[in-house]
Order: sequence, then structure tokens, then C-alpha cells
Amino acid sequence: MSKKMSIMISVILLITMLLVACSPDKTPADAGAPASKDLKLTIYAGLMEDHAMMAVKEFEKATGVKTNFVRMSSGETLARIRAEKDNMSASIWYGGPVDAYIAAIEEGLLVPYKSPNAEKFPDKYKDSEGYWTGIYSGYLGFVLDKEWFEEKKYDIPTSWEDLLKPEFKGQIVTAHPGSSGTAYTMLATTIQLKGEDEGFDYLQKLNGQIRQYTKSGTAPGRMVGLKEIPIGITFLHDAIKYRKEGFKDIVISAPIEGTGYEIGGVAILANGPDQEAAKLFVDWALTKEAQELGSVVDSFQFLTNPDAVPPQEAMELKDTKLIDYDFDWAGKNRADLIEKFNNVTKTSPPTE
Ligand code: G6P
Repeated sequence: MSKKMSIMISVILLITMLLVACSPDKTPADAGAPASKDLKLTIYAGLMEDHAMMAVKEFEKATGVKTNFVRMSSGETLARIRAEKDNMSASIWYGGPVDAYIAAIEEGLLVPYKSPNAEKFPDKYKDSEGYWTGIYSGYLGFVLDKEWFEEKKYDIPTSWEDLLKPEFKGQIVTAHPGSSGTAYTMLATTIQLKGEDEGFDYLQKLNGQIRQYTKSGTAPGRMVGLKEIPIGITFLHDAIKYRKEGFKDIVISAPIEGTGYEIGGVAILANGPDQEAAKLFVDWALTKEAQELGSVVDSFQFLTNPDAVPPQEAMELKDTKLIDYDFDWAGKNRADLIEKFNNVTKTSPPTE
């Protein structure tokens, strides 16, 4: 073989290798978009309303699939799909921490789908059998009203223990873990950090400090922004969204002991009526483009597609000390931990 020829072969090989390495996401167009125009899809969405609305609009634009959604918190979705088990009205669960998805797998409420777009995702962002795939990740922490802390001359809380200070009695709002995935992340984080005995002892003490348990995980951040309460426990990207959208006195802090985090998921519901459209949606939700859209509506989670560029606003959180959160354990023990939480706090999830 001539030298020229072998150089040419090497160049062709190199180009082929590069093309394979950069394997672009499969788009709905690759999947035969024209036929998808006859499809329809209903989604149970766990991410914020504005995010879900925009995603549905963009998915419809890309595929022609007529799509609608209902926004619910994690616990509500789980209860709904349990009740609809034999007559499911939606086919996709989109957003919200995967702990509840893992609980749903145990009850046969999800079907596996390994999207080709998930192949390049790190293993921690997908179920090994394909029951769920991660679309984002977000960190838990405290959302605070700066003005209240300045007026009172109190230090802002920087640890889970700080929340128990006498001056914060009645000044804290968090969601209820029975309804909210955010609050369940906090419950599972506490038990993972402290063990069951000490963990529930802490949650009982914290219960004495709580003014109100809300249904959804984002409500505490809004309430702090509106100055209805000085301290909330929430996902920090939600607090950054509220601050950016006008609640200027919001400050955030993350507990120094380490904090838990969510992987927000997407999954196909068992017995859902629109399985074909559901697969198209999963493929779409995993693309770099779909994930990067979140920041258009100020959803500032970290992203799971390795090619997607995380929002600049998320960088504020990049040094947060995280625990080695065990999603599998948290998902499988969800019912048990919530029952124990209800018992020690004598609370139940709010309906409004
Ligand atoms: C917000 C956050 C999401 C999170 C979800 C959980 O939408 O932006 O990152 O997954 O809340 O909601 P929940 O009401 O179940 O706590």
C-alpha cells in the first residue's frame, strides 16, 4: 500500500471514529415524525408548571403529537397511577425525584424503555433495566429572607442543626414528604445522614419548629419570596428561579453536614394508552436541546445529557457538599419512612 493510500485510510478511520463518538441524539424526525402526527399523549408532570407547559409545546412542535399534561407533586402522581393501575389515563411521568419512580417499579406501575439517547448517559442517571432515565439533578437546601435575618440580627442557618435554634421556632416551612418529592428527599437525606433513631428524633424536633407543611415542594420558596415566612426548605434551583424572577431578598444556604439531591426522571407508565408516543417523548426529553430548554423558563437544574450545557445560574451551587444519596434505598423504603414520619410528627399530607 502506498504511503498516500495509508494516510487516506487513517484519515477516514479517524473521521468515522469521531462521528461515532459524537453520536447525535435521536430526534423525533429520525423516528418518522410524519406518522407521529396522528398520535396523542398525556403526561403527568412533576416539574414546575411553566417548564412542563413549554416542554409540551416544544415536543408538539417537533413531532406533531397532540400532548397535554397535569402537574402534580411526586406523592400525588404515585397515588394517582396506583389508583389508575388498570385504566391508566396518562402514558408518561415527567420530572420529580426518581425515588417515587423506584417505588412505582416495585408496584409494577412502570414499563422499561431504553432510549438510544440514554446510551451515553452516566450509569447513575439511568435505571439499569430502563424503567426510568434522569433528566436533571437538583440540590436540597435552605431558602431565606435576607431582610428578616438582618432586622433580627440572626445568623443565617448553615446546618441542619441550626434549624433547631429556639429563635427559628414557628419560622420554617417545608413541604410534606407524603405529597412532595422535595420533602421526601429531605426525609431520606436525614435518615441517611443520621440513621433511623437519631434521624426521626431530629425530625420530631424539627416538627416543633415548622409553621406549616405545604403540598408542593416549591411552595416554601415562594412563601419566603413573599415574606410570609423567613425560612424554607427546598431545592435550591427553585429558590434561584424565584430570586431571578423578582423576589430579590431571597438568599440560599446549604447545610454543612452535607445535603441530599434529586435526580428528576422520565418514565413510561404501564398500561398507558399511548405507548408509541411515550417512547417518542422519552427520546425527545433526553436530547441536549430539550434539556437546555429548561433555563428558558428559569429551571436551573443540572442536566443529565453529557452534551447539554448546564445553566450558568446552577454554577452557584457547584461546590455544595452532597451526601452519597442512595436512590434505590430511598425508593424502596418510601412507604415505610413516610409512615414513620407521619407517626412521629402526627401529620398527614395536606390536600390543598
Ligand atoms: C420543582 C423542582 C423540580 C422537582 C419538583 C418536585 O418542580 O424544580 O426539580 O423535581 O419540584 O416537586 P414536588 O412538589 O414533588 O416536591
